[in-house]
Amino acid sequence: MKQYDGSKIIDHDGDKRPKSGDVYFGTFIGCPHEIGERVHISANCSFVGVGKLYLGDDTTISPGVIIYTSSPNLDERVIGNKYTSGFEVVAADVHIGNNVFIGAGTVIHQGVNICDRVIVGAHSFVNRDIDEPGIYVGAPVKKIKGF
Ligand SMILES: CC(C)(COP(=O)(O)OP(=O)(O)OC[C@H]1O[C@@H](n2cnc3c(N)ncnc32)[C@H](O)[C@@H]1OP(=O)(O)O)[C@@H](O)C(=O)NCCC(=O)NCCS
Repeated sequence: MKQYDGSKIIDHDGDKRPKSGDVYFGTFIGCPHEIGERVHISANCSFVGVGKLYLGDDTTISPGVIIYTSSPNLDERVIGNKYTSGFEVVAADVHIGNNVFIGAGTVIHQGVNICDRVIVGAHSFVNRDIDEPGIYVGAPVKKIKGF
């Protein structure tokens, strides 16, 4: 895997990276991860959290995509005002299949599974599983075309 200037990948036990593929300028991969072959991760993406991120083969992630694999329990953190006394972290792995294209600026929520052969349009919010091949757009994403 070729890494361009300014990108950073933090290693965790059991992380897997491909021999082929690339990670562009300014992208940060801070969560545990398993990345398939021929994956292209464009500039200024941020993948963070304590859950694991799985990226399938031949998948492209466009610039500025954010994927988080955990979040604070917001009921405790905000409503219960537990900022200083500690709050639960909700973690869930994110699975992205083979031959998937994620459009620029998309945000993907913890625990989401995206099947093979999916296009997600630019600036979408994926907060539920995508189980069928097709094109999905919007916040939250909705299917506009099947293959
Ligand atoms: C999702 C996408 C592939 C759809 O392309 P398409 O199949 O040609 O679809 P169309 O342009 O005909 O759009 C179909 C409908 O979806 C809407 N739509 C398309 N992309 C959208 C998006 N990203 N968010 C919200 N709505 C979108 C269109 O406005 C149109 O709505 P309408 O029928 O009410 O007019 C394309 O719009 C897109 O977002 N590509 C990703 C580009 C990108 O991120 N490139 C990375 C550069 S490095």
